[in-house]
Amino acid sequence: MNILPALKSRFRSALAGLLEDRAEIEKSLDLIRRSQDAKFGDYQANVAMPLGKKLGKPPREVAANIIERLDIADLCQTPEIAGPGFINLRVKDEWLVERLTAAVRDDRLGVPQVEKPRTYVVDYSAPNVAKPMHVGHIRSTVIGDALCRTLKFLGHNAIGDNHIGDWGTQFGMILYGYKNFLDREAYRENPVEELARLYKLVRKIVDDEKTQAVVADRESTEAKVLRETAKLHAGDAENRRLWEEFLPACEDEINRVYGRLNVTFDHALGESFYEDRLAAVVEELLKKGLARESDGAICVFFKDEKGEEEKVPMIVRKQDGAFLYATTDLATIRYRMETWSPDAILYVVDHRQGMHFKHLFAAARMLGYENLELEHVSFGTVLSDDGKPFKTRSGETVGLEILLDEAVRRAGEIVAANDDAKSGGPELSPERRAEIAEIVGIGALKYADLSQNRTSDYVFSYDKMLAMNGNTATYMQYAYARVRSIFAKGNTDVEAMRVSGVKISLAHPAERALAMEILRFSEALELAVFDYRPNQLTSYLFELANRYFTFYENCHVLNAETDELRQSRLLLCDLTARTIRKGLELLGIRVVEKM
Ligand code: ARG
Repeated sequence: MNILPALKSRFRSALAGLLEDRAEIEKSLDLIRRSQDAKFGDYQANVAMPLGKKLGKPPREVAANIIERLDIADLCQTPEIAGPGFINLRVKDEWLVERLTAAVRDDRLGVPQVEKPRTYVVDYSAPNVAKPMHVGHIRSTVIGDALCRTLKFLGHNAIGDNHIGDWGTQFGMILYGYKNFLDREAYRENPVEELARLYKLVRKIVDDEKTQAVVADRESTEAKVLRETAKLHAGDAENRRLWEEFLPACEDEINRVYGRLNVTFDHALGESFYEDRLAAVVEELLKKGLARESDGAICVFFKDEKGEEEKVPMIVRKQDGAFLYATTDLATIRYRMETWSPDAILYVVDHRQGMHFKHLFAAARMLGYENLELEHVSFGTVLSDDGKPFKTRSGETVGLEILLDEAVRRAGEIVAANDDAKSGGPELSPERRAEIAEIVGIGALKYADLSQNRTSDYVFSYDKMLAMNGNTATYMQYAYARVRSIFAKGNTDVEAMRVSGVKISLAHPAERALAMEILRFSEALELAVFDYRPNQLTSYLFELANRYFTFYENCHVLNAETDELRQSRLLLCDLTARTIRKGLELLGIRVVEKM
């Protein structure tokens, strides 16, 4: 067991005699936190203040009371009361050493599997495939992938599902474009590129028409596009055949991007998969009296806090009989419940869809999915340095692959410069350099996104994401390679060392500080899945790397005073490297042995 859960379990027992209500005890346990300053110990329990208020006793007295009941001698030194009633806790070195020794031999680095695994469906990436992927798709894709990996590692049953937009209006755009503006030659050469061109062309015509005076007796292109979509949905043979022809090419395109991003899914059940389940959803809503007709459309109305009906409903069937995004999402929830009966469904989707999910979740509750946790894991926008959404100079959205290529190109320059500067001359072949550049470039891009608090917007910057210093993938990958280089230099057989039974010593404060952080890995993972924030993990890794470098500056490793100390420190290095590698792996980022 790791530090925080161990502390909590001891406090749980101690508080049991003081508080009756179990929920209240659990709430109090959240007040056990890491100390901001090592002066005050490693952890701090701030439970005595609120408890004092409740019991009408001075908090310091309550703190003393808690300590009396606390059975913690094997884990911590005698707790100290500070200030108004903080309980300062310093973990015993023996306990740390014991945990570290166990972690050395454990593939999971001492991270326990959760006691009560839950089933999560993680709905992420979900591009609309008839148009090229762009910068906006990075966030959902990498955040969702990281959450899936972390949940799985913790022992949950996480099911990644790519709810691809393979059935929407954008297909109307390319159907219309195909029928009117196709360049056959270009289509034969590269279908995806030609379809993308058609998509953009039709989109532009539609947008331009909106700014022009409407010609009364001419049908708008938008209406024609909608008609193509409607025909597809109604089973029109030609449109259906074309859709079946387009889809594989579109899928190859996104799969290539996923390959480069090293992102996978357990399922990719796109919107089209639910096509024949939509009518039943609307039927059910009508039958249960949850939807009604309004202006010819079928709508679900919601109540606000005052119990009054909100003006804007959720439309599940339009006047013309067409089903909508919301209808598909309701059918999807139903299918997921029938197939996997998950405890939670996480939607990793842009914050601008907040209203859609608010309505969707409310409708799902009305349909009886009350015990299902439905979570909109929303995120902000990727910006340029002028603070506007990230676009090219000419105002177009930037294709995702162009971004990947550029990040890799710049990473290549850094790798080459570092290698050229090596004292013994360059070590890497051109092929190896290219491989490393791919790992460093893509890693940088992903980490830059994952290290943000997901709800904020962030500014896209190649220079920042590839910086060798600071909270970047490049820094973490460099730290990893640096730690690993010690084993090569010292000719260390790491595997043998792990089973050799060397005793770890934590005499130096920098050793102890590093050890504390290594053992905090599982705490960081728990935090990352608690409210679905991978940046909890990047912050942790950054702190770990920093503590490692402080340790390295202050403590000789290969030249340690005794052989035992040398081995002990090498074990700390090994644990650091493995934790960094595992942590990055859970973020979907690879490491290299040399860079
Ligand atoms: N395809 C949608 C879009 O690009 C995102 C889908 C998100 N997932 C969902 N179940 N609604 O906006």
